[in-house]
Amino acid sequence: MCGIVGYLGKREKKELLLDGLQELEYRGYDSAGIAIIEDDQLNNFKAVGKLANLREKTKDFHSEGFGISIGHTRWATHGKPTELNAHPHLGQYSYVVHNGIIENYQDLKAELQNDGISFLSQTDTETIVHLFEKYNKISSTPFEAFAKTIERLHGAFATLLITEAAPDTIFFAKNGSPMLIGFDADEVYFASSDTPIIGKATQVYYLEDGEYGYAKSGEVKLFDAKGARAIQKQPLATDKAMAQKDGYRFFMEKEIYEQSSVISDTMIGRVRDKEIYFEELDSAFFEGINAIKICACGTSYHAALTSGYLFERLAKIRCDVEIASEFRYKEPLLDPSTLFVTISQSGETADTLEALKMAKRAGLKSLSICNVDNSSIVRESDAVILTRAGIEKGVASTKAFATQAMVLWMLSVYLAQKRQTMSDEAKAIEITAMLQTPKSLLVTEELHGKLHRLSKRYLHGHGFFFIGRDIFYPLALEGALKLKEISYLHAEGYPAGEMKHGPIALADSKLFTIALMPKTVHYDKIKSNVEELSARDATILAISPEPFTLADDFIQTIYASHPMLEFFEMMVVTQILALEIAVRLGNDVDMPRNLAKSVTVE
Ligand code: F6R
Repeated sequence: MCGIVGYLGKREKKELLLDGLQELEYRGYDSAGIAIIEDDQLNNFKAVGKLANLREKTKDFHSEGFGISIGHTRWATHGKPTELNAHPHLGQYSYVVHNGIIENYQDLKAELQNDGISFLSQTDTETIVHLFEKYNKISSTPFEAFAKTIERLHGAFATLLITEAAPDTIFFAKNGSPMLIGFDADEVYFASSDTPIIGKATQVYYLEDGEYGYAKSGEVKLFDAKGARAIQKQPLATDKAMAQKDGYRFFMEKEIYEQSSVISDTMIGRVRDKEIYFEELDSAFFEGINAIKICACGTSYHAALTSGYLFERLAKIRCDVEIASEFRYKEPLLDPSTLFVTISQSGETADTLEALKMAKRAGLKSLSICNVDNSSIVRESDAVILTRAGIEKGVASTKAFATQAMVLWMLSVYLAQKRQTMSDEAKAIEITAMLQTPKSLLVTEELHGKLHRLSKRYLHGHGFFFIGRDIFYPLALEGALKLKEISYLHAEGYPAGEMKHGPIALADSKLFTIALMPKTVHYDKIKSNVEELSARDATILAISPEPFTLADDFIQTIYASHPMLEFFEMMVVTQILALEIAVRLGNDVDMPRNLAKSVTVE
């Protein structure tokens, strides 16, 4: 989410920054900007939309000679994608770029406004530059002011700051969000990942959380809470395609592994002080609402189905979930006291967009849960909650689904708060579990290795049934969808209790059953359903914390305290299983046949 570049040296800076940002555009592309100080002369450009707009705007500008420069491509979190909200943000004589979220920005902003400082943007980032200039008035050096500034920031940040008060220096800090420093002779580069500097820098240092410092005259000084630190440079990779995937074989694989960290981005600022907050929702947003209707397609529909259980159970509000392409033509009865929710990774899915327009025409209030700000569905909705998964390149959705499920879980608890349907103790259980989610999403080497070995037994047969109950039923649907998308094998998701009503007729040793057997939800019931299949000789892969003697294969998950923690852990297992089967079959995992990332046709 958001990409940062910086450069100190003699090269032409504009092209270098723009090329670097191009490599990071996958991290966000709703606006971009650059700031350059050369011969004590400051230049700054910003443009809304893709980087091409910034290129066009800067086409007559060239920089020459030694100078310092920073650039940013934005994925909006606070404030709409406008030029004022685009980075770099200006104080009186300094510029800052930032990736992450400053959780205490409202307190800092209030403090600065009390001091008489006016803000131009709605962003959390602008507080950094004003805070720096405030401290610079009372510090002996700009670096001392920068260090004092960093000390005041809570949350995730990777930030670069340049100032006319030190026109040969770039200040940097990292905590939570990625940033690295590249080196080549007396040139210094900064970037959110290594692709922008491959072919330019020869050595690299990956900053650790809590590190900060400055680059000046080709030298970098590094500090952390304990004081000055030595920099352990390492050689920089030279293969750009490989670097984009951070060493993973496929984008989908990288995105599966990323889930553990992006889920924290989804929660930042929203899960705090034992409460759920959605600053993007007006406090009166749910007034007059007594039911929820959710429309979505594919994977997003599966996330919606999961939340159907959560809204009714936690917030005691009726919730219907429909496939958008069915909803459009069923002549639905719509009541203005129903909130119409759309869920979409891309924000461009034609059926979901048209369903939303229909609901609006019927006078319903609308909310979208989306990963792409400023997309058609977002623009069409009354309110939006962004999932903050970052750009997903693999066509088969993974981290977008995880973050959708997380937002919907948070929203159910948020609504339970509003409707007072949950005791403080029950809410504390939900929130404690949410904060443990990143751990449930971690992929261990042992798990991946086991799924790799086991996958060779699942390359043939006459099909897969993924079965589960309750919220594990939509997860079964999603597991089956993932497998069929990338392996091209036939797979179905079923509620476990439905098998005996027909599908069990297919059971034999060549029917592979992937059984989701959580310990926190109806364990005994699903166990009986799986036993029925086993008695008919179906091949069973059981995923459960509880050892299951009838399983042909068994993946043991941890005994978790909350169903959603089991949900996320089992989700990862099904994603990696699908990936490993597809790899063994030699398929193009990232771009499976017949599919597209954004389905803009009916
Ligand atoms: C499957 C997948 C699709 C999408 C569906 C809706 O991996 O990604 O099923 O979920 O096409 O797309 P969005 O979420 O963009 O509306």
